[in-house]
Amino acid sequence: VNTAGIVLEVPDLATETFRVRPWRSADAPSLARAWQDEAIIAGSVPPPDRTKAAARRWIEGCDGRRLAGVAFDLVIAAADDDHVLGEVGFSRFDNERRAALTGWWVHEEARGVGVASAAVALVVDWALNDGALDHVLAEIREGHGASESVARAAGFLPLAPGVWRRSR
Ligand SMILES: CC(C)(COP(=O)(O)OP(=O)(O)OC[C@H]1O[C@@H](n2cnc3c(N)ncnc32)[C@H](O)[C@@H]1OP(=O)(O)O)[C@@H](O)C(=O)NCCC(=O)NCCS
Repeated sequence: VNTAGIVLEVPDLATETFRVRPWRSADAPSLARAWQDEAIIAGSVPPPDRTKAAARRWIEGCDGRRLAGVAFDLVIAAADDDHVLGEVGFSRFDNERRAALTGWWVHEEARGVGVASAAVALVVDWALNDGALDHVLAEIREGHGASESVARAAGFLPLAPGVWRRSR
């Protein structure tokens, strides 16, 4: 069984309002702020050290994690000034099933205008259509209406309680 990770290339994806790009060190304060947001913490697994220095180190490790097939995290960046609106990422790559888990968050001030729905759809469309993955899973706490709507808008279907899936 080949359990090695899946290495995704960095895609070039954009809409009129945002583009998708790798994390860079200047984003560390924005990432550290996301790690302090109760709603974001509740929907993901932030690291124990949530300082700006830790965010900078996490960002420095991003490309290594991508190349090791461990995780791939991308910034949803504003089209006008490139600031961080949110994140879409992949983890738990399963080379045998050609599957991965996806997760996302959007900064509070950027919510409610369709950023998450559009970005998750764009990135997951790319990962499936590009042939990199056959299945993308999402874990969403039951009753988390906004994230369930994001998943539905991005073409995911409920698979089991709290688990959504979209396949190629
Ligand atoms: C969930 C989250 C990513 C949504 O981001 P967003 O950019 O505001 O989402 P969108 O604007 O694309 O809206 C998505 C849908 O949620 C709906 N929505 C927004 N707030 C909602 C709420 N509090 N309750 C229910 N639905 C809500 C919107 O109406 C929209 O539904 P529609 O497409 O049927 O109209 C954002 O709220 C967030 O980051 N939350 C904290 C982190 C988190 O929970 N991450 C997900 C873990 S799986």
